[in-house]
Amino acid sequence: MPDFSIQGKIAIVTGASKGIGFGLAKAMAAVGAIVAVTARRKESLDALVEEIAAAGGEAKAYELDVRNISQIRSVFEQVAQHFGRLDILVNNAGLGEGMLAEDVTEEYWDDMLDVNLKGVFFCCQAAGRIMLAQGSGKIVNVSSQVSIVGIPEGVAYCASKGGVNQLTKVLALEWSSRGVNINAVGPTFIYTPGTAEKLDEIAFRDGVLARIPAGRIGSIDDVAGAVIYLASPASNLVTGTLLVVDGGWTAQ
Ligand SMILES: NC(=O)c1ccc[n+]([C@@H]2O[C@H](COP(=O)([O-])OP(=O)(O)OC[C@H]3O[C@@H](n4cnc5c(N)ncnc54)[C@H](OP(=O)(O)O)[C@@H]3O)[C@@H](O)[C@H]2O)c1
Repeated sequence: MPDFSIQGKIAIVTGASKGIGFGLAKAMAAVGAIVAVTARRKESLDALVEEIAAAGGEAKAYELDVRNISQIRSVFEQVAQHFGRLDILVNNAGLGEGMLAEDVTEEYWDDMLDVNLKGVFFCCQAAGRIMLAQGSGKIVNVSSQVSIVGIPEGVAYCASKGGVNQLTKVLALEWSSRGVNINAVGPTFIYTPGTAEKLDEIAFRDGVLARIPAGRIGSIDDVAGAVIYLASPASNLVTGTLLVVDGGWTAQ
């Protein structure tokens, strides 16, 4: 029988202070994972840690800006030391603000790529070093449906997420024979603090819905189902792939 359990597994979720990361951390804790939740300000994670504890789960907060490579290494080592191992990394932290290509500045481009691509790689590397040493681990990168199709105002975002898919493939080639699986999930639009402003514009929301054959905006639970599957033994032969959670957006 396939084993979908992540009970007792030690997981890191980046960008867990709000939105998808907040919900993913709660969902993973609800099915028994012990979750190290991270974001730029530790105080922004207090409510999450309390909610998880109140529901009978276990979580611990760590301050982590994924643009800071030495901080990434230090936090991941602290987690592995504190809990004795590291089984799962969910690279969720990301920026998503759109901008027309002709308006893009160097600062905007660098911010987007530093968080969404460089940060993801160095988190993978820090987790990979611990997981390769222990001979097992699962990494799930939160990419996007627009890593494989374009979207207006998405030049930097789409490039960063396309890069995430590519680094996922290369790391799978290097690490899968040593017990570390790495995959990406590609959500469609999910209502979060990062997307609320755009999705609250009726015309924008209608345009999005028109492109989703399933006929609805995604939920954080839709993403959590895919992430938990890719973090569980049920997906042990799945590596280097992108699992789109897009209601059919990219099927057309
Ligand atoms: N929502 C969607 O429609 C959608 C669709 C496809 C993919 N995604 C992807 O899903 C992920 C989460 O999106 P979301 O909509 O939940 O975003 P959100 O509501 O804006 O939340 C973003 C999270 O990333 C964290 N973050 C931002 N910069 C960071 C940094 N330098 N270091 C560490 N953490 C940082 C934020 O934490 P702090 O600011 O507290 O540090 C926050 O927890 C992103 O990778 C996004 O690209 C989202």
